[in-house]
Amino acid sequence: MEPRIRKFRSRTRALAYGVMPALASPVWLHFRRFLAHPFRVKAFFPASKAWGELIASRVTRRDGEFVVELGAGTGAVTRALMASGVPAHQLLVVEIDREMADFLRVSFPAVRVIEGDAFAIADAVPANIIGKAGTVICGIAVATLPIEKQRELIAGIQSLMVKGGRLIVFGFLPFPPLPAEQLALKRVGVALTLRNFPIGFVWTYEIAE
Ligand SMILES: C[S@@+](CC[C@H](N)C(=O)[O-])C[C@H]1O[C@@H](n2cnc3c(N)ncnc32)[C@H](O)[C@@H]1O
Repeated sequence: MEPRIRKFRSRTRALAYGVMPALASPVWLHFRRFLAHPFRVKAFFPASKAWGELIASRVTRRDGEFVVELGAGTGAVTRALMASGVPAHQLLVVEIDREMADFLRVSFPAVRVIEGDAFAIADAVPANIIGKAGTVICGIAVATLPIEKQRELIAGIQSLMVKGGRLIVFGFLPFPPLPAEQLALKRVGVALTLRNFPIGFVWTYEIAE
């Protein structure tokens, strides 16, 4: 599609969401985008409030450090991060789906939303964020990716992080989503919530020294 037409469609959608918020129920939007791209979205519905809160509780961030969220969807985790005290201007979210990215921009006007591919993250984020993220949260299903793709993703994530930064990966599988040793990660912990369907797991890693 021509960039001009694409931009026009994005703006029209953003305007429609702004004028008629009912059009933009996050659950409905998430489900629609799942039907359009099941292998990319990989979840029928957004994370529950409880799961978002559990993820937010695992975030570490010192003053001036950023939190980066990859695969923000319709903002279920973004909302929890802000409620937990992460300032909007220290939060950067990345989403590959144009309609979801437009929705995020309307829902969180003070948050930097990047419509882009998490696998090319280092090229997509502004230079002032490189090496400044205290925590990176990954909502993309990574467990089933080949090791080369996992390595590519982790290399990009690592370039964003402060030394000793934290990587949080969440998903439905009850086993570690990343092979820590092969990716030079240190597994720090796991938590789960029953207040999500299916059960929501939160895996926490640090980059091994
Ligand atoms: C399982 S959903 C999680 C959505 C949201 N974080 C939540 O918990 O409700 C995964 C999200 O990652 C996005 N995604 C998938 N691959 C991506 C990629 N390569 N780069 C950026 N976002 C991606 C999908 O479009 C989808 O919104």
